[in-house]
Amino acid sequence: MSSEPTTGPAPAPRRGEPLPHDLLDDAERLSRDQLAELQLDRLRATLRHAYENVELYRKKFDAAKVTPDDCRSLADLARFPFTTKADLRDTYPYGMFAVPMEDVRRVHASSGTTGRATVVGYTDNDLSMWADVVARSIRAAGGRPGHKVHISYGYGLFTGGLGAHYGAERAGCTVIPASGGMTARQVQIIQDFRPEIIMVTPSYMLTLLDEFERQGVDPRSTSLKVGIFGAEPWTEEMRREIEERVGIHAVDIYGLSEVIGPGVAQECVETKDGLHVWEDHFYPEVVDPLTDAVLPEGEEGEIVFTSLTKEALPVIRYRTRDLSRLLPGTARPAFRRMRKVTGRCDDMIILRGVNVFPTQIEEIVLRTPGVAPHFQIQLSERGRMDHMTVRVEARPDAGPEVREAAARAIVQGVKDGVGVTVEVEVVAPETLERSLGKIRRVRDLRGA
Ligand code: DLL
Repeated sequence: MSSEPTTGPAPAPRRGEPLPHDLLDDAERLSRDQLAELQLDRLRATLRHAYENVELYRKKFDAAKVTPDDCRSLADLARFPFTTKADLRDTYPYGMFAVPMEDVRRVHASSGTTGRATVVGYTDNDLSMWADVVARSIRAAGGRPGHKVHISYGYGLFTGGLGAHYGAERAGCTVIPASGGMTARQVQIIQDFRPEIIMVTPSYMLTLLDEFERQGVDPRSTSLKVGIFGAEPWTEEMRREIEERVGIHAVDIYGLSEVIGPGVAQECVETKDGLHVWEDHFYPEVVDPLTDAVLPEGEEGEIVFTSLTKEALPVIRYRTRDLSRLLPGTARPAFRRMRKVTGRCDDMIILRGVNVFPTQIEEIVLRTPGVAPHFQIQLSERGRMDHMTVRVEARPDAGPEVREAAARAIVQGVKDGVGVTVEVEVVAPETLERSLGKIRRVRDLRGA
């Protein structure tokens, strides 16, 4: 009875290869019915906790004439009022905390790019649950105990760095807490410390890849096997670009501070077919952003989350502003999937009556030969009309003819695929600003 000695961590599973059953946690083994039962119990407790401990929820529930006892089925949740970022801002900084401040072990804050920052809080139990869902996400991505995880999400008030950090530790991995920035050094560290996994925004991954090239190192020669990318929208074209350039699996992780941080939903490496929502802790709904009506499974709309186990900051029907759709579970059958996020309602550009998302431009740019995956969208006014310019970098080896052909192809691609006329400027390599974390795609110069 001799078994092979284990040398180092297990390799990431190939596409189509399920996670060994002994690596699933208890909730991942529930049937859909068992999960629904758990969700209803937790939902009722959360509604009560919020109502009894947060003045804002009490007022909102009273105004909507509902009490926690009115929730007898999961469908009853639709009778309860929504929560928005404005609610968090109005009660800044701690007004929506549902536990005494001495029980809040940590706070994070969102950057406040769209207004005043919002502050979120965690009890000991919240931090432990967060580590659990991120650990589960890392396993779903192919991470195994013993893997080294290089974390380039920013550490600090942003939830990306510390969220990934404690999750990777919980998964039994070795953490390399690189944080964002110092790009040249990160490339060195990746070569020397030999991580199997990298967790980073997809746009900063591109910045790292440029640096690999600058240092004359082939990224395919590194130890990396899996990239866990999130915190901003990215497309299937970007997945292909990164997977081919680095020779890794690229999977999507989703989350937001108000709900917990990273680890609300995760794509499984064996299927890469959208993100399984960890529904034992976060209950998803999709609503029509204009009418607020709950939409049936499969229809696109704004994704809304209700926390099921959070103590410090329970959120009831939190409006994410993110657009997606819910689909049945696959690799984790009990958990529904959310399709890759197309963008935020707030990122939607209305150009002469046509809705345009930066991800649509990304798809077209990344399909076009002769240009690099770096682009920026500029909005300006020409006369009384809005005007969009897509500025995209040429590849270093692309001559004038290739650049012109690329510009024409992008103009045509946007016209055919999106239905608007844009101007395309192919700029010299290394001229557009690089991402250091979440990228800002759109420069709005209108009225400037
Ligand atoms: O970005 C949490 C996070 C960190 C997620 C690291 C994944 C990895 P916030 O700063 O509060 O939290 O920003 C949340 O980022 O509402 C989405 O608009 C966007 N976002 C996050 N993940 C994805 C994703 C973190 N995978 C906001 N795809 C969300 C598309 C995403 N957008």
